[in-house]
Amino acid sequence: MSGKVVVNRCMSLDGFIAGPGHSMDWGGDRDLADFVAPDDLAEIAAATGAMLVGRRTWEVGDRMAAEKPDSGDYPFSGPMFLLTHRPLVPPNPHVTILTGDIGGAVARARDAAGGKDLEILGADVAGQCLQRGLVDEILVYVLPVLLGDGTRFSSAGLSRTDLEPLSSSRSGDATLLRFRVLDQSHQTDR
Ligand SMILES: NC(=O)c1ccc[n+]([C@@H]2O[C@H](COP(=O)([O-])OP(=O)(O)OC[C@H]3O[C@@H](n4cnc5c(N)ncnc54)[C@H](OP(=O)(O)O)[C@@H]3O)[C@@H](O)[C@H]2O)c1
Repeated sequence: MSGKVVVNRCMSLDGFIAGPGHSMDWGGDRDLADFVAPDDLAEIAAATGAMLVGRRTWEVGDRMAAEKPDSGDYPFSGPMFLLTHRPLVPPNPHVTILTGDIGGAVARARDAAGGKDLEILGADVAGQCLQRGLVDEILVYVLPVLLGDGTRFSSAGLSRTDLEPLSSSRSGDATLLRFRVLDQSHQTDR
């Protein structure tokens, strides 16, 4: 059985997934894990079998790890796929580099997820997946802040995308919203 393809991200109430300069400062020097109830984060991570990550997200993750080495944001340790046109320096044997067609990249990472969900990380990468109708669900952790500027949830040029609400719940100081992405035949503007 195949898992879902899920765009999974935290977002300010005004729709930014990072602040100016790719800052991941959500307030009070708190990581995502400090906002969301640990059981919810553990459950979502346990449902995840692989991740497909954009290069800018990867670089922000590296920067955060360097700045705050002991921040354990997300309890996931499965296969990681990095979408990039450039090699990793130094190479990381635990990461598979993919390039080119987004459909092929999602298929490859999904296979590796072993029947669990594939998480898509990065606005540009998520936009490509949404544009191609490859995403099953969007899971957003709305955090209690208005950032005013930064990286928007949707990259420019994304077509209108109709969603079906699946669930909403309070989790710690975050609000979890889950939506199903309606398939292409149910989209109103394609
Ligand atoms: N709030 C959250 O939960 C959350 C989650 C994830 C990310 N973020 C934030 O979102 C920002 C990053 O998103 P982003 O939209 O700027 O970038 P992104 O989607 O992470 O990465 C885009 C880059 O990935 C590479 N890429 C994308 N598609 C490719 C393809 N088909 N083939 C080969 N390479 C490909 C390209 O890099 P190269 O050409 O340079 O290789 C491209 O510039 C960061 O600030 C990050 O912190 C937030």
